Amino acid sequence: MSETSPPGEASMCGNLFPSAGGVPERWALSGPVIQRSYLSGGRMLPWDGPMREVHSPVCLAENGTIRQVKLGEYPLLGAPEALSVLAEAFAAFGNGRGKWPTMPVAGRIRAVADFLFAMREQREEVVKLLMWEIGKKQADAEKEFDRTCLYISDTLEAVKELDRAGSRFSISEGILAQIRRAPLGVTLSMGPFNYPLNETMTTLIPALVMGNTAVVKPAKHGVLLWGPLLAAFRDCFPPGVANVIYGKGSEIASPIMGSGKVSVLAFIGTSRVADALRQRHPQPHRLRCVLGTEAKNPAIVLPDADLSTAVSECVSGALSYNGQRCTALKIIFVHERVAQAFLSRFCEKVNALVPGMPWTDGVGVTPLPEPDKPGYLEELVKDAQEKGASVVNPGGGRHTATFFSPAVLYPVTEEMRAWHEEQFGPVVPVAVFRDLAEPLRYVEKSPYGQQVAIFGKDPDVVAKLIDGLVNQVCRVNVNSQCQRGPDTFPFTGRKDSAEGTLSVSDALRVFSIRTLVAAKENDFNKEIINDIVRGRKSGFLSTDFIL
Ligand code: G3H
Repeated sequence: MSETSPPGEASMCGNLFPSAGGVPERWALSGPVIQRSYLSGGRMLPWDGPMREVHSPVCLAENGTIRQVKLGEYPLLGAPEALSVLAEAFAAFGNGRGKWPTMPVAGRIRAVADFLFAMREQREEVVKLLMWEIGKKQADAEKEFDRTCLYISDTLEAVKELDRAGSRFSISEGILAQIRRAPLGVTLSMGPFNYPLNETMTTLIPALVMGNTAVVKPAKHGVLLWGPLLAAFRDCFPPGVANVIYGKGSEIASPIMGSGKVSVLAFIGTSRVADALRQRHPQPHRLRCVLGTEAKNPAIVLPDADLSTAVSECVSGALSYNGQRCTALKIIFVHERVAQAFLSRFCEKVNALVPGMPWTDGVGVTPLPEPDKPGYLEELVKDAQEKGASVVNPGGGRHTATFFSPAVLYPVTEEMRAWHEEQFGPVVPVAVFRDLAEPLRYVEKSPYGQQVAIFGKDPDVVAKLIDGLVNQVCRVNVNSQCQRGPDTFPFTGRKDSAEGTLSVSDALRVFSIRTLVAAKENDFNKEIINDIVRGRKSGFLSTDFIL
C-alpha cells in the first residue's frame, strides 16, 4: 500500500536523507553555485536580471525535518537577449561564408579536440553537479561524463572517415564531381534533464564539427553543470560558434524559432514541446528536426523465458536512474504461466535496491529532480489500485519529499493510466497475458515506437516475434533490456518517439547536407579543377586526406 509523508516531515523514508555533516567531504558543496553570465558571441555576458533558484532533489535532515538544498541560481533571460545571442550564431555562420563553416575540416577537428581536452579538466565539478542537480548516482554521473567524452572522440574519428570518403572525385556520364557534406546553418540544441550533458552534447558536437553554429539551451534541470564548460566553449571555438543561453523554454526558445533563423532543431523532450517549437518556424520546410521524444518500451516475458535473466534485465531496464530514461522498460507483459514466479523474484530484487543519496555506496534508488513527480506517480498508483491492481512489493510507492520507493503494480490493464502514460519514474506496471497477440496489440496501438525487449528461449517463437516487431519499433532487444548504446549503433524511434537517427556516424549526416561541385568532363574544366586542387585554392574542392 502506498503511504505518503508530506515534504518537511521526517518519516520512514525520512532517515534516508543525511544531515549537512553527513555529506562526504568529496561531494560537499562549498556554497551555492550562482551562474551570473551566459555565453554569447565568444563573450561571457554578465546578467543582472531575474534569476531562477535551483533546488537539489537531495534533502538534508535537521531536527526532525527535511528540506531541499538550495543549490544555486541561473539567469532567466528574456526574448531580447535570446535573439541577440541567436544573431551572434547567425553572424558566425554568415550564410555559410563565416570562418567556421568554411574552415577546413582539420581545423574544426582541432577545435573540438581542444574543447574535449578542456572539458575533461572539469570532470569532477560536472559530475558533482550532475549528482546534486538531478540526483544521478555517482557511478552513473561519471558514466555520463565519460561516455560523452568517448562520444566526442569517436565523433572526431568518424568525421575524419567521412572527410576521407569525400576527398576523391567521381566521374559519371561525362560529369566529374566532388561530393561532400556541408553544414546547414544555426542549430538550436536542447537536451533533456535525465542526460543533460550527454544528450545535449550528442547533438551539439556533431552539429559544430560539421560546420554549423549553435545555441544551447540547457534542460529544465541539469543547468548549472554547463557553467564549468562555458570557458572551454569560449576559448576553443571562434566567437559566435557555440553559445549558451539560460531561461524558460517558452520565453527564449520560442522567439528563437519564430525568427526563422534556425536551420536545425535538435530537441530531446516531449513531442508536445517539439511540435510547438517547430510550428513557430515561419518556413518549416527550411527546418530540419532531430527529435528524441516519448517512449513506453514494453518487455514481453514468454513462458519459457530464463527468469533469472528476465528478472535482472527487467529490474535494471525499468529502474536504472529511477526509471528516468527514455529507453526504460515502462510496462512488462508476463505470460500467465510464469507471472507469479516472475513477480516474486522481480519484487525481491526491486526491494533489494538500496535507497540513498547519489554518493551512497551501492545505491539503487535516489531522490527525483522533478518537483511534481512523486505526486504524479502517486496518482498513477492510486488510479491503478482503484481499477483493480495492487502494489505487490512491500513498501512500494511510499514517498517522502523528493524520494519515491519503487512501486510494482500488478495486474495492470488497459483501463489504467499506468498502461498508457509514460511514467518516467520508479513505478513498474506489470500486465499478464495468455495470448501473444495481447502484447503485440499493445505495441500496435501504442502512440510510441522506440524499442521492445523480448525474453524467451524458443528460436521459432523469438524469430516470429522479431519479424512482427521490427516494423513497429526501431530496436528489438532479445533477452536484454532496452538501451541507447553502444553509441555507434543507430538510436531512433517510430511514431511519437523520435524523428531522425542518431549515432556517432548518423549524427554527422543529420547535421549536414550532401553538396557537390560538378563540371562537364572536358579539358578546359579539368585544367581549372586541377589548378584549384594543386594550388589548394579551395577548402571544399580538395583531395587533401586527413590522416
Ligand atoms: O533517456 C534516454 C537515453 O537516450 C537513454 O540512454 O539507454 O543509454 O540510458 P540509455
